[in-house]
Amino acid sequence: MLAECSLSLDVVNIGVLTGGGDCPGLNAVIRAIVRKAHGVGGHRVLGFYDAWDGVLEKRYEELDITKVRGILPKGGTILGTRRGSPYDHADGVERTKKVFKELGLDALIVIGGNGSLTVASMLADEGLPIVGVPKTIDNDVVGTDATFGFQTAVQIATDAIDRLHTTAESHDRVMVVEVMGRDAGWIALHAGLAGGATAILVPEVPFEMKQVAEIVTRRHDRGRYASLVVVAEGARPKPGTLEVPEPKLDKYGREMHGSISQIIAPELSRLTGFESRVVQLGHVQRGGTPTSYDRVLSSRFGLAVVDAVYEKAFGEMVVLKCGQIERVSMQVTRDKTRTIDLDFFNDVSASFFG
Ligand code: F6P
Repeated sequence: MLAECSLSLDVVNIGVLTGGGDCPGLNAVIRAIVRKAHGVGGHRVLGFYDAWDGVLEKRYEELDITKVRGILPKGGTILGTRRGSPYDHADGVERTKKVFKELGLDALIVIGGNGSLTVASMLADEGLPIVGVPKTIDNDVVGTDATFGFQTAVQIATDAIDRLHTTAESHDRVMVVEVMGRDAGWIALHAGLAGGATAILVPEVPFEMKQVAEIVTRRHDRGRYASLVVVAEGARPKPGTLEVPEPKLDKYGREMHGSISQIIAPELSRLTGFESRVVQLGHVQRGGTPTSYDRVLSSRFGLAVVDAVYEKAFGEMVVLKCGQIERVSMQVTRDKTRTIDLDFFNDVSASFFG
């Protein structure tokens, strides 16, 4: 309600950008922000194109209700997204400050994962009025119990695993299904559990090929069974147990993933004698329409972050805590990853594998 708004009731300019990898639910957040800040509050909402590039280059459009009509179920982001930040340029921070001044920006809402929120928090420390919304299919942002996009990715991966079961069973094959998750195994653990995986390999727990092969062999020995090994892209073997080439770096200095399943599958064939095939789900997990859960979480985040702007909670982000939307400092995201609960992983491993 405007009565609760502690910013001046004059029209204020609120910027919004989406940063990092896209993720289902981004448009639902943008829609909620526009409906509340523009539709109810009468404020100007400026949507910056292509993340920080749009800020630095002053590429934006004013978002009103007509611009966000019909975008709720759409995947991706109507604003476009990029990796990279003002800190990639020697004068990036100064240019960002200048743009805030020139456009009369009273606040900027950054919808992003660990990378974008870290940058947002650093800029907030420089005095810029920035608030955050956590997003990522990886579910690995510290400070929140969940990020939107994750549930959709898990559903997509689970559907794929269900389909792979029947074909693998018919051929008595081993399917090695690689899912996203570079530093945390959330998608692998949840989709693997929901899809009845034979084994799940996550970045948090280095694996041993011999042990995986034993689990697979035990399963096939029991009769007509297929086995599905779900592996997160960032999973790695115990040092000295399997040779894995040094990963190449992309232009942002991140390790390029997407090959661990190609190493695991032939090794499993060699150790078990079963034909092993690789399925890399890749960006399919990030595309398309969000689940209803993610649409609701995105909408809740979008509405709550407008309150954060009204209350000048700069430097903070909205989060989900025990079912409630709360706010925490974006600083908690700096160089940190929220990893899976190892007790739960061990319980799942002991009870369902083999
Ligand atoms: O956004 C997170 C994520 O989906 C990771 O799981 C994955 O490693 C990465 O993005 C891929 O990013 P890109 O599409 O830039 O290669």
